Amino acid sequence: MEEEALVYVERGKLRQLFKEKLTRAGLPDAQAEKTADLMIFADERGIHSHGSVRMQYYAERIAKKGYNLDPDLKFTKTGPSAGTYFGDNAVGHYVAYEAMEEAIGLAKSSGIGMVGIQEMGHSGAIGYFAEQAAKQGMVALTVCQSDPMVVPFGGTEPYFGTNPIAFASPRKNGEPILFDMATTVQAWGKILDARSKHKSIPNTWAVDKQGEPTTDPFEVAALLPVAGPKGYGLMMMVDILAGTLLGLPFGKHVTSMYEDLSQYRRLGQFHIVINPAYFGDETQFLTQVSDMVDELHDIEPAKGFDQVYYPGEIQEEVKKRYAESGIPVAQDIYDYLISDEIY
Ligand code: NAI
Repeated sequence: MEEEALVYVERGKLRQLFKEKLTRAGLPDAQAEKTADLMIFADERGIHSHGSVRMQYYAERIAKKGYNLDPDLKFTKTGPSAGTYFGDNAVGHYVAYEAMEEAIGLAKSSGIGMVGIQEMGHSGAIGYFAEQAAKQGMVALTVCQSDPMVVPFGGTEPYFGTNPIAFASPRKNGEPILFDMATTVQAWGKILDARSKHKSIPNTWAVDKQGEPTTDPFEVAALLPVAGPKGYGLMMMVDILAGTLLGLPFGKHVTSMYEDLSQYRRLGQFHIVINPAYFGDETQFLTQVSDMVDELHDIEPAKGFDQVYYPGEIQEEVKKRYAESGIPVAQDIYDYLISDEIY
């Protein structure tokens, strides 16, 4: 497959291009700011599945009113450590950020904060929200629904989404540890990224219409769960926390991302925030997480590896590299970003 040309764009400029396109499509300012932040968070860490590659989709959905552009967001505290956040089908990046601030508030005052978000749009690279809490000294876990595009282990029809899980922990010195994964071998956005760059994919990621493994991203009909029945079990756990627990559509009833861009998605997300001060000596905890990272770094790398990384470390290194080189964007996406076109 012939690879698409790349343009390297400075972070601030790319964020501005994101913000301008979102605003031009009709997204109110505060929501456009947060969505641009999330997209840059992804692209600058090399999580290209959730950066510029999604812009045309978001812009079209905004323009077609597939998001509520004038939402009535509402947090309801339902217990000392629990609450629900009604997202009113606004853009998910903004809703999940605001809901995480509520969960952090609960954890600060009561040790734990659990907030279930009901009815929102797609929220992007969800590691952002776990890191948001870790930057305030909290340990956090967040999970969300995604549209059905994964065959359950042993099945032939898609049922669950790529239902991601993100976990972050602060530590004494350095950036938080950030583990952020789709419960599939790869996120759907990685297929989109491969399509945009005209790159083939490994044959372990996805299957075609016949259920056969494929290396052509344009032939992908469904994704595979990570580690077979284990990934399948995790995606079910996510759907129970972020869907059924909150009274939302679940499994194959979750709306499709791409089918009708004028319809609301009605997605759910679940934030769990833990205040380390309530579970032991906070200073000792932060030191021990740092010690853990140091000890992992000291482990002799296996053949073919240059070192042992902590989760999120590779993305931190990419971020440093892109700060020098600029962030790579496929040429046709860059042309779209600098144009007046919406869709
Ligand atoms: P990935 O497979 O690139 O990385 C998963 C995790 O493994 C990361 O925490 C990464 O730091 C860690 N990792 C990777 N290589 C490592 C190594 N050599 N040593 C140590 N740790 C390593 O991520 P994936 O699964 O492709 O997900 C990409 C993004 O897609 C995530 O940000 C996720 O939140 C997002 N996503 C969002 C969805 C949504 O509906 N909002 C749906 C699915 C995924």
